[in-house]
Amino acid sequence: MTEISHLLCENITKIYRGGSLDGSADVSALKGVTLEVPHGQFLAIMGASGSGKSTLLHIAAGLTKPTSGTVRINETQISSLGDRALTLFRRENVGVVFQAFNLIPTLTAEENILLPILAGGKSGGTEKMNAAMTQILTRLNLLERRRHYPDALSGGEQQRVAIARALFTDFLNEDSKASLLFADEPTGNLDSANSEVICRLLRELCDERKHTMVVVTHEPSVAHWADRVITLQDGKILHDQTAAEFAAQNSAKEA
Ligand SMILES: Nc1ncnc2c1ncn2[C@@H]1O[C@H](COP(=O)(O)OP(=O)(O)OP(=O)(O)O)[C@@H](O)[C@H]1O
Ligand SMILES: [Mg+2]
Repeated sequence: MTEISHLLCENITKIYRGGSLDGSADVSALKGVTLEVPHGQFLAIMGASGSGKSTLLHIAAGLTKPTSGTVRINETQISSLGDRALTLFRRENVGVVFQAFNLIPTLTAEENILLPILAGGKSGGTEKMNAAMTQILTRLNLLERRRHYPDALSGGEQQRVAIARALFTDFLNEDSKASLLFADEPTGNLDSANSEVICRLLRELCDERKHTMVVVTHEPSVAHWADRVITLQDGKILHDQTAAEFAAQNSAKEA
């Protein structure tokens, strides 16, 4: 893993083609977004439903190609990588927690968490891996559920398994100095106590291990843990604020 995890999105646009010949059904989801996230920053992306948050996150993580614009992670222009190179690059450098958790129904919680590592060619069951597994399961309050299948888990538990899967590579490499984690509504299905567990964990990963975090949320209470908050509106950045500016604006709204 590299020492630096830095993200640069330049002039990103995304048009979803609607299939009509005259283009009338096309959706312009992003309309020129430029965003730089420095190493070690915890960024929250807010905005109304449909404003383009998930689209931006997927493009920044290399899961979706932009219609125009470029994405650079560290020194790599990911928008110019081929599919295979991109998959390998993501596996090494990027963790993603999806809005829909994408757990494999025929694998237990533990097997789901191990999947990216095994897909990367490492073998399971080593002492180091078991220790990291116990550590992450404990941290996310899942130890008793490790052998359950997704359909036997609550929505919140499934969400925590998806978070554990995205973070596992990292728990395995104690010496990893940097990685980039993207999460789409990671606390969307959690009660406030579990939501706080997740936010605290993300904050600690930023502070202790200098991770770079990009977290989509609609909850101000989650954004308060971030260093910086951007707000999207209709495919553009409306506000780009420090956490303090965001908190001040938010408490003025509530007052
Ligand atoms: N695959 C797709 N095909 C066509 N339109 C899409 C597709 N995915 C998203 N869109 C549209 O693009 C716009 C932005 O969607 P996006 O999922 O990025 O919003 P969001 O801010 O994440 O919303 P939410 O808070 O509801 O998750 C929306 O108008 C949506 O309907
Ligand atoms: Mg979304």
